[in-house]
This record gives sequence, structure tokens and C-alpha cells, in this order.
Amino acid sequence: MRLKAAAVEEPLELLKGLVDDMFETMFDEPGIGLAAPQVGVSKRLVVIAPVADDDEGENIGARLVLVNPEITWFSEERVPYEEGCLSVPEITEVVERPRAIQFAYTDLDGVRREHDAAGLLARVVQHELDHLDGVLFVDRLSLIKKQLLRKRLKQLADAARS
Ligand code: NI
Repeated sequence: MRLKAAAVEEPLELLKGLVDDMFETMFDEPGIGLAAPQVGVSKRLVVIAPVADDDEGENIGARLVLVNPEITWFSEERVPYEEGCLSVPEITEVVERPRAIQFAYTDLDGVRREHDAAGLLARVVQHELDHLDGVLFVDRLSLIKKQLLRKRLKQLADAARS
């Protein structure tokens, strides 16, 4: 899970079973986003629940499947938001990230798309794409917060190695 995931190069039809499993796992937990490395598949693939893509929390989109996604623009403005993660149980912490982004991805029909997002969608996309590079939200905390969490983070690191 700490590895950089590989680009998806196989025919997209082959991903449909995995994508269904990922949505099921995500909705069961429940979570609002899941990256393939979290279910043991080191590929650049992410699923996201319907969430708002604006700051007002009003414009709720559809569920998204992101194949080989990349963030192409980040706002300079950063905002705090409390994050949790299925791979980091029992910890939620406020993380600062860019408020808005633009991102590109291939959908399951093979169409390359671009999307502007602020609000919760911008947050989820940034969190999930970090997973593709082996980065967890706790890596983005301040040194002081990491110190406070050090015992719990060490347990997680030990678990990841075993
Ligand atoms: Ni996560």
C-alpha cells in the first residue's frame, strides 16, 4: 500500500468486476472514496461516491470511476478539513489541502475527461490520488500532530510491514 501504483494499461472491460467490488467495499464501510491499492491492487484506479463538487455542498454529482487520474491544477488557497481513511482506522485529523483542483481521468468507456472541483470532491480526489503514490493523509499532518499520534502511526507502519 506504500508503493507507487502502476498505470492501468489493460482493456477497461477487465476492470469492471474490480470496480464493482471496490464500490461495494466502499459503501459497506461506509466511505466516500476508495483507491485500488487499498484493496491490494497496485493500479491507478479510484472510485468515488456521489459528493458535492462545489464549496456550498449543493452540486452533488454521480459516482465516479477514475482510471489513470491526475490533478492538473491546484488552487493556491488551502483549507482545513477533517479526514479519515479506511486504511488508517480510528484516526481522524484535520488536514490542510488546496481548496479547488482540476483533474483529468479516463472513464470506464475509455473517454479521457476533465473536471473542475472544489468542496468535498476536491478533497476526496486529492486524498484518493495520494493513495496511488503510497501517501496517507497522516503523512500530510504537521510535525506536532505526527508527534502526538506517533504511537498509533508506529502501529500502522508495523502492520503495513507484516
Ligand atoms: Ni484513504
